[in-house]
Amino acid sequence: MENLQVKPKTVIAKQVSIEQKWLVLVVVSGLVLILGIKIGVYSFLNAVPEGFFKSAPAIRGAGTPDRILSPERSASDRYQWQTLPEEIPVPLDNPMTPAKIELGKKLFFDKNLSADRSLSCASCHALEAKAGADGAAVSTGIYGQMGDRNAPTVWNTAFQKLLFWDGRAGSLEEQAIQPFLNPVEMGMPSVGSIEMRVREQPEYIEAFMRAYAGESDISIDKIVKAIASYERTLITRDTPYDAFVLGDRNALTPQQLNGMVLFADTGCIHCHFGPNFSAASVFNEGQGLRGFPANPERLSQQYAFIDKNTQSWRVPSLRNVALTGPWLHNGEIDNLHDVVKVMSKAQLAKSEKRMFFWNKKELDRLENPDLTEQQVDDIVAFLHSLSSQKLVKARTEAMATKVSIEHQ
Ligand code: HEC
Ligand code: HEC
Repeated sequence: MENLQVKPKTVIAKQVSIEQKWLVLVVVSGLVLILGIKIGVYSFLNAVPEGFFKSAPAIRGAGTPDRILSPERSASDRYQWQTLPEEIPVPLDNPMTPAKIELGKKLFFDKNLSADRSLSCASCHALEAKAGADGAAVSTGIYGQMGDRNAPTVWNTAFQKLLFWDGRAGSLEEQAIQPFLNPVEMGMPSVGSIEMRVREQPEYIEAFMRAYAGESDISIDKIVKAIASYERTLITRDTPYDAFVLGDRNALTPQQLNGMVLFADTGCIHCHFGPNFSAASVFNEGQGLRGFPANPERLSQQYAFIDKNTQSWRVPSLRNVALTGPWLHNGEIDNLHDVVKVMSKAQLAKSEKRMFFWNKKELDRLENPDLTEQQVDDIVAFLHSLSSQKLVKARTEAMATKVSIEHQ
């Protein structure tokens, strides 16, 4: 009896195992087939030229003012061009008052606040002569030490929610303490030493009392709050771009209008958007950092630095960008034409490596438009329209003075 019971069991077990073998065989060959098709399609997609299946992004030239501003804009002109609002975003715990702004200005220009008393904030952020930057590829700090980053402008930083090239500061208050303590910038040894340098100047006592409701103590918190308040007054709305958006149809040249259309159509506006032309501005609730370069291969032969520094960077504002070269976080590129080429090749060519399935995000579908030299020039012309007329004038005057001094 025992044998009879065991035997059928073994038979069943044997039958199942054969079926399983078939099943496994079918599944495995199915997977291999799918993988083969996948690889085939992938290689095919990568072999065919861009724009084979779908038209390359529309790069329409000939922007006309009415078309750009018309309510019935074509698909790529859906973008809403905006000017900077009158209202400045101010933290609740640091209301702006005239006395605090005045104090902040004094601190911003005070060279005593660097270790060797040689540099103030304004040394690297020359408001008029250098449009709020320093005109160098990378900044030079105390004792002639070279930094490794380019100084961005302080103009319009009131509208940025992330400060520094890597976006590591979340407010102007948070940012302002760092250059004081940075050993290659102002090189102050401690917070206490900064406060001491302020206290040793008697005229500050009254200025602090006026700014902070009669309180006479001087603290780093009050110092950075005053500086931030002053920086929030550094805003440039006097640009041809703003005039155009506000309705002056003649504010932009035909070339700038072409550039404006290209700026939207090629996809620059996916990162440089809103009134301050930056995803890292207060006008965008989402991400402010982007990979740069998004496509290192595209430019690695031309620009060696591009390979090494692939990481996330804060999307910079493009206001006054034509006045603040050299460009990029390391000041590696000294003409705006090349910067635009780098951007179009390194930032727009996200679909260069075709994925089996397209990513849903529009940004990831941007094709590299291979802009012509003329189109690059048009975009550059448009970028010039973001320059404050006051700063253009101040810079021209500063350069004229420099030339006349050199010739004496
Ligand atoms: C030695 C030159 C130097 C001095 C002095 C200096 N800065 Fe800067 N500043 C820089 C550089 C370089 C950066 C970019 C650093 C980075 O991103 O890591 C910067 C960044 C900034 C930014 C961020 C701008 C942006 O768009 O993200 C602000 C604001 C700023 N500085 C304000 C100040 C203030 C206020 C002081 C004085 C307390 C000051 N700086 C002193 C060189 C300098
Ligand atoms: C995927 C996001 C992205 C797109 C798309 C993009 N940019 Fe940028 N842009 C950045 C980032 C990030 C930086 C900062 C890179 C750095 O310095 O490391 C930058 C920097 C710049 C700068 C230099 C700013 C300065 O102060 O040095 C210019 C000019 C610029 N972009 C223009 C453009 C133009 C024109 C286009 C369209 C052709 C474009 N960008 C498309 C993300 C983008």
